[in-house]
Amino acid sequence: MSKNKYYNIITYGCQMNEHDSERLAGMLEEMGYQHTEEYKNADIILLNTCIIRENAELKVYGKLGELKRYKRENPDLIIGIGGCMMQQDAPVDEVYKKYRHVDLIFGTHNIHHLPDLIRKIEETRDRVVEVWDEEEGLIPDLPSQRESEYSAWISIIQGCDNFCTYCIVPYVRGRERSRPIASIVNEAERLAEDGVKEITLLGQNVNSFGNDLDKDITFPKLLEELNKVEKLKRIRFMTSHPRDFSDALLDKIKNLNKVANHIHLPVQSGSNKVLKEMNRGYTREYYIERVKNIQEEIPGASVSTDFIVGFPGESEEDFQKTIDLVKELKFDMAYTFIYSPRSGTPAARRDDQIDDDVKKERLNRLMELQNKISYDKNQKLIGTTQEILVTGPSNNDPEVYEGRTSTNKICFIDMREDLVGEIVKIKVESAKSWTLEGKIIEE
Ligand code: 5AD
Ligand code: SF4
Repeated sequence: MSKNKYYNIITYGCQMNEHDSERLAGMLEEMGYQHTEEYKNADIILLNTCIIRENAELKVYGKLGELKRYKRENPDLIIGIGGCMMQQDAPVDEVYKKYRHVDLIFGTHNIHHLPDLIRKIEETRDRVVEVWDEEEGLIPDLPSQRESEYSAWISIIQGCDNFCTYCIVPYVRGRERSRPIASIVNEAERLAEDGVKEITLLGQNVNSFGNDLDKDITFPKLLEELNKVEKLKRIRFMTSHPRDFSDALLDKIKNLNKVANHIHLPVQSGSNKVLKEMNRGYTREYYIERVKNIQEEIPGASVSTDFIVGFPGESEEDFQKTIDLVKELKFDMAYTFIYSPRSGTPAARRDDQIDDDVKKERLNRLMELQNKISYDKNQKLIGTTQEILVTGPSNNDPEVYEGRTSTNKICFIDMREDLVGEIVKIKVESAKSWTLEGKIIEE
């Protein structure tokens, strides 16, 4: 009998990458590999990389260094590296030349070729580099080894055409390509049959869904179709580009019962000058009106956002505009990032880069303000009734269970194994900046 073979996948970056890793895992499982937590037991270790900010890249090089000793102990170990970093020439050269223990380099457009690439290495023991510049349409539907039994990601559109001047994504993920609506609905139906209660639709800009398909196929239309999938309970989606966030979409979020009341709408900056230089395609005034509109139309809906501080040329006055916007709109949550120059993007070429100290100081001010707002907003929820999808034990304490509200807030409850995978009503009893605690309301 042949020996069991094991894999481990190390993932960096966004949900898109996490979902790609689920698909890499799905292919490895089909090849007969089993998952292991221990690098020392693995026959294959894959790194799925991210290039959005410099610190993501540094972590990858650190990890590659760490993996060297496992290769030394087990020369048959296959180490592969894929993901966004490998869609750029410089990191591929660096890895190929300096990390000789890496056997396989692949890109974001050819993840479906993983089994062939691995077989080639197994047969020849040669190092293999296969990165495609041009995607051949969509990555085909692939088996997924899901992390969660009750929640699943569904990729609906790949790539990005926006070319925000700071962002590397359009260069590494290619042009926007929507997946056919039938194949998405089909996947949602299969997942629902399999016990999945909540799906999250993924795309760099989900609002562009359908632009490259038939005229009447749009993102709101997709939501309408998915809302009909009987056993599904909740539909989430990310990310929305503010410029393309339409009234038709707002209407669907409001009126389709399964679509969650949470909108992630990255604003990046509150200054019109910076927004223009970022090529975001909207003004501060437009954005404020959009969010107020959401808050009025769907009372109780949560809005989260992303900010970049220290974009080239950002003055203290520009930054104050961001602070004012945060105070005015009171986001439920915000992801705050220090601007990181990405080679090949227009903003990285500018000679008015901001000092690191200034960037860090601005980040701290912004985070402090947002923490306080998130805390105050959550405090206001004490005493309210919310519906949470119970997902199981919390990471820190197996006796405490957790779930998420429709507004995407984590909520802790007492252990109740029988409720895992169910949507239950809870009463919020206490709240912190990022989490709630609740008691189940018995029906
Ligand atoms: N530096 C810092 N943050 C960035 N983001 C994208 N590119 C950069 C960059 N070069 C942030 C944006 C985006 C999020 C996913 O990452 O806020 O919305
Ligand atoms: Fe990057 Fe802008 Fe596309 Fe988002 S919309 S992935 S920030 S280029």
